[in-house]
Amino acid sequence: TESKLQQVHKHIRAFPDFPKKGIMFRDICPILKDPAALTAVIDLFEDHVRKNHLQVDLIVGLDARGFLFGPLLAQRLDVGFVLVRKKGKLPGNTVTVEYDLEYGKAEAEIQEDAVAPGQTILLIDDLLATGGTLYAACELMKKQQAEVLGCMVVIELKELNGRDKLKPHNVFSLVQY
Ligand code: PRP
Repeated sequence: TESKLQQVHKHIRAFPDFPKKGIMFRDICPILKDPAALTAVIDLFEDHVRKNHLQVDLIVGLDARGFLFGPLLAQRLDVGFVLVRKKGKLPGNTVTVEYDLEYGKAEAEIQEDAVAPGQTILLIDDLLATGGTLYAACELMKKQQAEVLGCMVVIELKELNGRDKLKPHNVFSLVQY
């Protein structure tokens, strides 16, 4: 029978030249459309957490596709889920960091009371490219004095070296290109 990783791999589509010329867009929508593939993703993330005996207080998901996987994993682990959003989307007091995009800057934001000092967290997103987005999330966690146990992504684009940018934090990815 087909492995869980093979199932995940089979449900990632590639779109050349999206959102612009020269970019190969990796689309995770087919995973969400297939219950077995989605279960395989969450199983693999859960296995990683359990095998490494990670004592996680919270799963922190990144805007926007981290929100699709994060709550499912959090529920499996019986812990809470917190959102890191693009600036201006969250009410109340927030903490913000600026980060670099391919062209220009963006800002990531979290609610000030979302994570308490000393809490252990795992960051989750669909894809690691340059690592700029996850790096910003790590900065937010540092500001909140939370302890980052690692970053988890479905897809890692290896040639962009996002893994190096995130050092010393550990990155766990299911599928690499
Ligand atoms: C994509 C992806 C990650 C980020 C990774 O999101 O879902 O969040 O880029 O890139 P990086 O490692 O170079 O930072 P995108 O910026 O397309 O935003 P979206 O989630 O709102 O579509």
